[in-house]
Amino acid sequence: MAIKIVVANLKRLLVVAISSFCNQKPNYIMNDFLESIIKRDPAAKSKLSIILTYPGVKAVFFHKIANFFSVAKFDLIARIISQFSRFLTGIEIHPKAKIGNNLFIDHGMGVVIGETSDIGDNVTIYHMATLGGISPSINSDDQRNTKRHPTLMDNVVVGSGAQILGPVTIGKNAKIGANAVVTKDVPQNAIMVGIPAKNVGESSVDDQTFKPYGITEQSDKN
Ligand SMILES: CC(C)(COP(=O)(O)OP(=O)(O)OC[C@H]1O[C@@H](n2cnc3c(N)ncnc32)[C@H](O)[C@@H]1OP(=O)(O)O)[C@@H](O)C(=O)NCCC(=O)NCCS
Repeated sequence: MAIKIVVANLKRLLVVAISSFCNQKPNYIMNDFLESIIKRDPAAKSKLSIILTYPGVKAVFFHKIANFFSVAKFDLIARIISQFSRFLTGIEIHPKAKIGNNLFIDHGMGVVIGETSDIGDNVTIYHMATLGGISPSINSDDQRNTKRHPTLMDNVVVGSGAQILGPVTIGKNAKIGANAVVTKDVPQNAIMVGIPAKNVGESSVDDQTFKPYGITEQSDKN
């Protein structure tokens, strides 16, 4: 009996491992990811220093392992890996969260990414940001297995301390300012600032003027 269970579990792991391996483009994994970080971080010195010292890189690496176990329905192992990653990096990503290519979590500490979050490609998230539920502690049973966390489309930037709450969609290229609180859908290219967040302009993926740390022109000069 015990052997049957072990064999069944191993089979499940193998199937998930093969299918996730087949989904990867062989060349993409490391190089594209690291180069995309160098493009988005003026402080980045080398690929080696990014691998060794960037908490966001470790968090994404551990998330891939945790997500693998989660898909194979080894939920406890998945949660343990995700919490170990949180212990190392200060970044909490639920193993079931869906994450696209080249997610860059800069600085990292305090970032929370909830269970039903869905993140597109080339998204950047700064420290203390939350992709959370609106009221997870109220009627929690009704909320189980429902979409209750945000969806971030490609190229979104989430500034430090921003709180994006509920099953909202943040459109492509949108930028969420530092400390903004977003509880509603955001159109693509929008720049959202304040509490509650308001759309104050248009951006594009090439727009380099966004200030993720909420610094002013004056503080830029100092
Ligand atoms: C405050 C809160 C409980 C309100 O939830 P709610 O009752 O569903 O509120 P609504 O979505 O109906 O929003 C009511 C109004 O308040 C605004 N609002 C909601 N949350 C807000 C917040 N945190 N700060 C400022 N304004 C907020 C909404 O934009 C809306 O404005 P409007 O009337 O002009 O349209 C919720 O938005 C919140 O902040 N929850 C915290 C959840 C959290 O910390 N999650 C992390 C989990 S990891």
